[in-house]
Amino acid sequence: MPVTEREPVSSRLMRALSRGPQPSAQRFEAPEIYGREAISRIARALPPVERLYANVRFSILRPKLLSVMDLLLPDEGRILDIGCGFGLFAAYFGQTQPERRIVGVDPNARRIAMAERVSEAVGLVGNTFLAGDARDVPLQGTFEGAYVLDVMHHIPEEDQLPMLTRLRDLLAPRGVLVVKDITTVPAFGLEFTRLLDRVMVGWDEPLRYRHHREWGEMLASLGFHVRMVRVPDVLPYPHVVIAATKR
Ligand SMILES: C[S@@+](CC[C@H](N)C(=O)[O-])C[C@H]1O[C@@H](n2cnc3c(N)ncnc32)[C@H](O)[C@@H]1O
Repeated sequence: MPVTEREPVSSRLMRALSRGPQPSAQRFEAPEIYGREAISRIARALPPVERLYANVRFSILRPKLLSVMDLLLPDEGRILDIGCGFGLFAAYFGQTQPERRIVGVDPNARRIAMAERVSEAVGLVGNTFLAGDARDVPLQGTFEGAYVLDVMHHIPEEDQLPMLTRLRDLLAPRGVLVVKDITTVPAFGLEFTRLLDRVMVGWDEPLRYRHHREWGEMLASLGFHVRMVRVPDVLPYPHVVIAATKR
């Protein structure tokens, strides 16, 4: 039987070094249930009342909807979460792609404190949160992405375009703004949503929904490249997800 001659360690080492850096082994997986684990970690981090809210919120923004947004958002870099509330989605999108550094903004200081706790409890160290109004809160630098989940219709009508303009200016070139909102068709779906929003915010707060085409035209007028998809649900919410890319 022929004896195979072993190559000396030094020459094997030289050969490996001369090949240069190898592409890192990327694992191509389509994790159907990862989101569920992330969601239950978030729920466990919350006190009982907020946990109930989180469970309701994640049953409205189901994995199908979350996955659409997850794939639209950059998988790393600074990402702005406008109207982050308790930080449920900062904790979610931070877990699905840990290289994201999410900056959450909400005027409600109690929610901001909770958002900090939740992100820490699920092990995310790169997320930060600011109490303030997205229309004028000081924000440093640019962002690779931004998302606004069910917040635009809470902004007074005359402030919606200026707020989108501000978000465009905060994005880096090719940055993406993901807007998830409620479109105005079908009418039954809109009235169902309006009723539930009124229960949450009362009668005095502004609620200004727009047809998805109106949002599209507004974003295009700001120079964005716009794509959108309506995401049907078992509940009659007329969800629309809009991806606006800064040119
Ligand atoms: C329906 S909640 C959505 C919270 C969170 N995005 C989510 O999807 O669970 C609307 C949030 O928008 C916040 N909000 C309202 N006006 C805002 C503004 N001008 N700037 C930033 N956040 C605002 C509210 O405080 C509230 O937390």
